[in-house]
Amino acid sequence: MIGVLGGYGTVGATTALLLTGRAGNVRIGGRDGAAARKFVADALDGDGEAWQVDAFDPDGLARFCRGCRIVVNCAGPSYLLRDRVARAAFAAGADYVDAAGDAAALSATGGRTGVISAGMLPGLTGLLPRHLAALASPHGGPAERLDVYTGGLDRLTPAAAGDFLLAGQEEQGAALAGWRDGGKVARALTPAHDVELPYFPGPVTAYPYLSVEAERVAAELGLAEARWYNVMTGDRVLAGASTATSAAELARIAELELAGRTPYYVLLFQLTGAHGTSTLVVRTADSYALTAAVTAHAARAVLAGDVPAGLHHADAVLDPVRVLADLEGVATAEITDAVAPIDLAAPAFEEGAL
Ligand SMILES: NC(=O)c1ccc[n+]([C@@H]2O[C@H](COP(=O)([O-])OP(=O)(O)OC[C@H]3O[C@@H](n4cnc5c(N)ncnc54)[C@H](OP(=O)(O)O)[C@@H]3O)[C@@H](O)[C@H]2O)c1
Repeated sequence: MIGVLGGYGTVGATTALLLTGRAGNVRIGGRDGAAARKFVADALDGDGEAWQVDAFDPDGLARFCRGCRIVVNCAGPSYLLRDRVARAAFAAGADYVDAAGDAAALSATGGRTGVISAGMLPGLTGLLPRHLAALASPHGGPAERLDVYTGGLDRLTPAAAGDFLLAGQEEQGAALAGWRDGGKVARALTPAHDVELPYFPGPVTAYPYLSVEAERVAAELGLAEARWYNVMTGDRVLAGASTATSAAELARIAELELAGRTPYYVLLFQLTGAHGTSTLVVRTADSYALTAAVTAHAARAVLAGDVPAGLHHADAVLDPVRVLADLEGVATAEITDAVAPIDLAAPAFEEGAL
């Protein structure tokens, strides 16, 4: 039995569909029993269990997890749920995968296996720099500098909007921070407005943000310098993050920004070292489907016994080559040496100055 909490949500529904029929039955859970039943009837042809369960009800959550071989958490906001679903899964003797969850305390697993941050961001954003570094290392030693630009134009689901608002809290990451001389430097970078970036279809705003995942990966790769930017088309969502009083309001602002335009999402990584500068880009029209592909991949890897016992971040245990292969149909990925190094933090050229 595979339990998918938030299984009729945006990420959860696609994850459940990707897992159906591969390794047994599926149990779909969420606070709305009717929505769970409708999803099982319509999307799974009735082949699954529908459960009404609230992650904040410990008894109900324990019942949901009991009998599951693995619990896949696609409910959110993850910054509110933290590790409560992981703890319930391990207590029930199940393995665990989380589409998000980078800030969750790493709890004891009771001998089971858990993979957190198994989505796009966090997830691919940690895995792909490691992949680039591994590819570069035979050609010139350790990587020195990493530049990351992730974002685009997309809707915000209720859970994602909640996480977006909560990400402003210092413990989840640091706005404007950079990584220099092997350590985090507060307020090291400034936002860049109306800039052109390779692979992004028009002018964007690039906002520096050093997440807990970015900091961990920079430290583990031994980078001297790293700059991570959240990229947005338009300034409405960024402004809304400080003015919106609820996730629903922020989701409406994102909807307005998107109106009549084509959604897109780009993950752009540049790694510089003695080997030169290599660029990895992943492009998709649906960042939620991309997240679901990674979440489902992680669940399959755990079910196949490819991940050792204990709790891991996805980027540290998944095989990037296999993950990239599983993204086919959802996203395109390309690695190239042909893109010149981007440097948004370089001093601006002053017109008229010699
Ligand atoms: N790593 C990544 O790149 C990435 C990308 C996108 C999303 N995510 C994360 O993945 C999670 C899901 O995102 P989403 O876009 O699928 O959100 P969504 O469309 O809002 O779906 C959330 C699902 O969780 C359920 N849910 C919410 N609160 C719950 C609770 N207390 N107990 C049980 N179920 C609950 C919702 O149903 P009810 O409200 O009816 O209960 C819904 O089914 C979020 O944490 C989000 O931040 C990660």
